[in-house]
Amino acid sequence: MKKKNGFQIYGLFGYPVSHSLSPIIQECAFNRKKILAHYLLFEITPLSIEKTFKKIKKESIMGFNLTVPYKETIMPFLEEVSREAQLIGAVNTVYRKGRKWVGGNTDAHGFLTALKEDGNYSPAEKTVCVFGSGGAAKAVVYALLSQRVKKVFLLNRTLNRAQQIKEKMLKHFQNSEIEIGCIDTFDIAKAIAESSLIVNTTSVGLKKADSKLFPDSAVPQASSRSKKVFYDLIYFPKETHFLKAAKKKGHLILNGAGMLVYQGAKAFELWTKQTAPVEEMKRAFDQALEMRREM
Ligand code: ATR
Repeated sequence: MKKKNGFQIYGLFGYPVSHSLSPIIQECAFNRKKILAHYLLFEITPLSIEKTFKKIKKESIMGFNLTVPYKETIMPFLEEVSREAQLIGAVNTVYRKGRKWVGGNTDAHGFLTALKEDGNYSPAEKTVCVFGSGGAAKAVVYALLSQRVKKVFLLNRTLNRAQQIKEKMLKHFQNSEIEIGCIDTFDIAKAIAESSLIVNTTSVGLKKADSKLFPDSAVPQASSRSKKVFYDLIYFPKETHFLKAAKKKGHLILNGAGMLVYQGAKAFELWTKQTAPVEEMKRAFDQALEMRREM
């Protein structure tokens, strides 16, 4: 199905959305694959997702992404929601399957692909430490459990949110252990020492003025046999305090750029049934970020 001018329309629905770099990576992929399509930003006022979705169906949009605050509220209006999206509790990609509108979540895929491709790390049988218990943490914890991780330390400022994730996830993944803790009181140095992967899903580090999530002394010096992967979902700035502290001690660091591109690539594949040109998408994303840095 196409719009009258021959272009298919895809897009991102959220509030706000103006900061998003998704149009850059998706337009790059459409161009590279010679698909006549555009990816637009739809900033819709809170609470009007039902009305908007009815309109979308009439406008023959081919698929779309969702961000805050619609990742959960879209669910009742879809004919199908993937198991993954249900367990994570959020839909970030909607695509068509025949006449049905299906909700999926590509964040876990993006997280794991970056970990494997850029970090050469496989979570199976490992102990990992995750900071945060918001929406991003749910996708990360789900991703790790789906790969049969041995144990997750789930540390958050608000313990109750970590507890909720633990209860929900362990109903579906009984072979992994989750130990929750409060960031302010937990022995973070011990959790990091026992983990081979440490992930920051909190928003701490987004702003220059942010204080540190934990003191640098909690990060041990790496040796060739004890190198850990430190993964921050933040990509702007490129290196947060969390990553700088880890890099200084000789550990491998990953920021959130890879996850963002891989989750977008997966959405592109769900929409178009074509292989995403990931390398080109990465380059387009890096270029856009560089420009943003210079501004
Ligand atoms: P997202 O969907 O991006 O994960 P979110 O649901 O708002 O966003 O979650 C933000 C995460 O950052 C939460 O884990 C939050 O901790 P709380 O659950 O205690 O709110 C964490 N966070 C935000 N600011 C923080 C701070 N100053 N110190 C520690 N954690 C913080």
